[in-house]
Amino acid sequence: MKIVFYDSKPYDIKSFEKQNSQYDFKFKFLEYRLNEDTASFSSGYDVVCVFVNDVINKEVIDILYENGVKLLALRCAGYNNVDFKAAFGKIHIIRVPAYSPYAVAEHAMALIMTLNRKTHKAYIRTRESNFSLNGLIGFTLHGKTIGVIGTGRIGKVFIDICRGIGMKVIAYDPYPVKNSDIDYVSLEELYHQSDIISLHCPLTKETRHLINEESIKKMKDGIMLINTSRGGLVNTKDLIEGLKNRKILSAALDVYEEESDYFFEDFSSEIIDDDILARLLSMPNVLITSHQAFFTAEALEAIAMTTLDGISAFRNNLPLDNEICYDCTHDKENCMKQTKGKCF
Ligand code: NAI
Repeated sequence: MKIVFYDSKPYDIKSFEKQNSQYDFKFKFLEYRLNEDTASFSSGYDVVCVFVNDVINKEVIDILYENGVKLLALRCAGYNNVDFKAAFGKIHIIRVPAYSPYAVAEHAMALIMTLNRKTHKAYIRTRESNFSLNGLIGFTLHGKTIGVIGTGRIGKVFIDICRGIGMKVIAYDPYPVKNSDIDYVSLEELYHQSDIISLHCPLTKETRHLINEESIKKMKDGIMLINTSRGGLVNTKDLIEGLKNRKILSAALDVYEEESDYFFEDFSSEIIDDDILARLLSMPNVLITSHQAFFTAEALEAIAMTTLDGISAFRNNLPLDNEICYDCTHDKENCMKQTKGKCF
């Protein structure tokens, strides 16, 4: 079985080649992303393996299908970049639902700690023999209220971490965890009560621009916003306004609406054309990381293992535990259970 990888980085190549000793698949690693212009390079491959910023729209799917691609393997959890309707009946799609919820949850907490206590600034200061504390004041997290939006795999781990440092946790999720001790509140209440809000829900039609001018108005003055989920959850222009008028004290973003043009690449010698991103980068109370929340050795190993396991199951006509299809995305609760691995 031949697999072509789009948007491959040295760390992908290393982790997939290591895991492949168990399978002996034939790999081709491409540096560029999958889109309408690059889809033709899938010709002759059975499987296409993609990441978060590859484009899998109808046009791309039609090219892959014509090229004989049978399986699309997402080496990530999120799937907002896939047109499932267009793929249904043509190409099976698998993903890695959970490779390390701990990695993402820990990064979200790292962002809070850094943003709050300004360790990123202190590091630079002390290296230049500046030992002044002016401007580095933070607040004690213990006893503060954190609002968690989305209590799935990552949200649950994140809640445990927050509780471990003595924060009061409240949460919102339209599908609350049954029989849990999570203190669920309405979204309105979460906005009213939280000192920090952390997003852990997927990007869907319903959650797109969840954080916007209206929702920001409902938040406490001086809120800290953390987004490690998907950039599209936040209307970035409204976020910038909130930061400018000091309603939002600070924000840490591991994801950004238009990240596909910049994230994962080195632009250090170039001028950033995206004025919105440039504005965010200019603010002292904004911390941006480049979609690295997942990026631990354990997560990379788990991604490679789960992806190749799924491809192996497909090769052997076994049920695809991590298949996701048009029906699943519409009726997640029921569909996954009924059609697991036999979507069409
Ligand atoms: P999950 O599917 O286990 O949990 C998502 C939760 O969000 C579910 O409980 C679901 O009911 C809830 N949800 C759905 N619609 C909602 C809404 N309108 N409002 C509030 N909650 C809602 O997913 P998991 O594994 O916890 O991942 C969460 C997100 O994290 C992913 O969708 C992905 O976008 C992002 N992610 C980011 C990574 C990074 O490196 N920055 C890495 C992995 C995931």
